[in-house]
Amino acid sequence: MSLLDEALRVRENAYAPYSKFKVGAALRTPSGEVFVGCNAENVAYPEGTCAEAGAIAAMCAAGEREIVEIWVLADSPHPTTPCGGCRQKIAEFARKDAQIVMRTLEGVELRMTMAELLPGAFDKSHMDKA
Ligand code: THU
Repeated sequence: MSLLDEALRVRENAYAPYSKFKVGAALRTPSGEVFVGCNAENVAYPEGTCAEAGAIAAMCAAGEREIVEIWVLADSPHPTTPCGGCRQKIAEFARKDAQIVMRTLEGVELRMTMAELLPGAFDKSHMDKA
């Protein structure tokens, strides 16, 4: 199962009546399972829930806890990068060498590691003296 195909497919289900900006995300865990998410907006909070957060919630609901690779697909002029909040959410479940692949519908691709996407991330080790 290709993460590209899965992200493209789930993007079609995005609920984005306010921004009109549909995003699809697909991630793979060490077991090989694939989880997908799309953005889902609402009238009170038009930014809604990001596609990446949806895929992460699906992964957690299935009892899995590690992201090896995640793809983010959107119809943007250049690859859409996860928002700040989503970077932290991905980092919670990803090693520093996990692959983040961002891609436009035209096929322009940007690949980064977790460490590149969120350098100096706040993590559990910062609370070691607490
Ligand atoms: N969005 C995502 O789902 N993922 C991203 O990486 C960037 C932004 C969504 C949130 C909102 O529904 C719309 O795109 C515009 O911000």
